Amino acid sequence: MEKKWWKEAVVYQIYPRSFKDADGDGIGDLRGIISKLDYLKELGIDVVWLSPVYQSPNDDNGYDISDYRNIMDEFGTMEDWEEMVSEMHKRGIKLVMDLVVNHTSDEHPWFIESRKSKDNAYRDYYIWRPGKEGKEPNNWESFFSGSAWEYDEATGEYYLHLFSKKQPDLNWENPNVRKEIYEMMRFWLDKGVDGFRMDVINMISKVPELPDGEAYDGKKYASGSRYFMNGPRVHEFLQEMNREVLSHYDIMTVGETPGVTPKEGILYTDPARCELNMVFQFEHVDLDSGPGGKWDIRPWKLADLKKTMTKWQKELEGKGWNSLYLNNHDQPRAVSRFGDDKQYRVESAKMLATFLHMMQGTPYIYQGEELGMTNVRFSSIEDYRDIETLNMYKEYVEKYGENPQAVLEKIYYKGRDNARTPMQWDDSKHAGFTDGTPWIQVNPNYKEINAKAALQDPDSVFHYYKKLIQLRKQHPVIVYGTYHLILEDHPLIYAYTRTLENEKLVVITNFSNETPVFRLPEDIVYTAKELLIHNYPVVESEELHEIRLRPWEARVYKIQ
Ligand code: NOJ
Repeated sequence: MEKKWWKEAVVYQIYPRSFKDADGDGIGDLRGIISKLDYLKELGIDVVWLSPVYQSPNDDNGYDISDYRNIMDEFGTMEDWEEMVSEMHKRGIKLVMDLVVNHTSDEHPWFIESRKSKDNAYRDYYIWRPGKEGKEPNNWESFFSGSAWEYDEATGEYYLHLFSKKQPDLNWENPNVRKEIYEMMRFWLDKGVDGFRMDVINMISKVPELPDGEAYDGKKYASGSRYFMNGPRVHEFLQEMNREVLSHYDIMTVGETPGVTPKEGILYTDPARCELNMVFQFEHVDLDSGPGGKWDIRPWKLADLKKTMTKWQKELEGKGWNSLYLNNHDQPRAVSRFGDDKQYRVESAKMLATFLHMMQGTPYIYQGEELGMTNVRFSSIEDYRDIETLNMYKEYVEKYGENPQAVLEKIYYKGRDNARTPMQWDDSKHAGFTDGTPWIQVNPNYKEINAKAALQDPDSVFHYYKKLIQLRKQHPVIVYGTYHLILEDHPLIYAYTRTLENEKLVVITNFSNETPVFRLPEDIVYTAKELLIHNYPVVESEELHEIRLRPWEARVYKIQ
């Protein structure tokens, strides 16, 4: 397998609004990031993925961009940005920027022009359609509730917005749109960025007829995803982008691609096809969603997690490359979702880290994950900030008449603000995030869970992540080894091996509060073993053949 720096790297995601506020306005900023680079260096990560920092009216916290070439005022200036990159590079940390080009803000000059008249030079930069019998052009539902179409008085037509109505979708069929995007990408690459994370990049090509989707459960609007995810020209567009831009730089690229299967994942990431290095697939984070989508919540099952992860590990092996994540700014906190964020918070956060970081692929750590930060339960909807959450609450409570407390429970489990509460730096007011009033409240558990405490405690989740990252640098089998699931039918234990030539890892993780027995399959023989990492103090030197695991225990052995 070809060696690449981005296969060997560990990425750390910063959500700038919630990371560190340096100027006291309650909003994280670039100077705040600069002040914490030594912390990231200490953790040992190689790459920062920075969520959008461009000019934006912040309808969706920066994922609605009004100027791709300038920095959001609240985050600082271009000089701050330049200093930040240079300070990162000085520490050997690379910077991946967020590329949001499925849509812009409705305040972007292109859209301001586009909506003026049907013959405006920018009209065709977006997707406009006349209404059908006085209604929207089709029945697609926006990811943020309601119709995906907005009627615009000025010209009497509707524009498409898969996300909020302040995020009109760009028309990638228009070669001028693509040209402008490629120029903008070169602008940032020439300023020294080391790659892009591409927002919903598998949605840029729509089936031109924009057919109706199939409505679920008698609902008015339907998911049109089969007509805009992995659409007819998406690979052509990405190959063009690669030819025009990406191939001219030594960078890493990761596409955010909801709804992809491994087969499609290979189409995006097979190096011979010259598109992207890796994608974020969603199958494992959709395991607790029912047919009604994200808010149709049901419990996830370990058997399904095994099936999904194994499928991606095996199918991409030697053909594409996986990204490994449990958290990001759109997902609830992993320790609350897949672990036990109460009695075994520390153990289960470490177990989840082991489970993920020992797989084949590039691991991503989301800010605060390295502290075992948890979900939050605000008592009132007033305390929430996320547009997806607020729109959903309104729709469910006002339109469908659901019990507000029941809707809040959904938000406690799945809401994006779980990930967006401020980073917990210490036990001082507002967790050391800001001297002002934070834009969203801090999780009240910051007195116990914070970076300062974690740095001082050698057994903290932080130090465990640090060790996992170091191990990756020392053992090529962690990066390049092949994956094999063992104990396939065990209801509580997830175990697998990784093999590279004569090196083998045995990864054992207990996904429960119980104490099941791990038994090594008979076909795995060894003469020597070394315990590489373990989330409990080792009490005895056990044989690997039979181990009674403790709650949420994780161990990685290297055997020969
Ligand atoms: C995916 C991003 O991760 C999410 O935060 C955002 O709301 C949508 N794309 C729209 O840009």
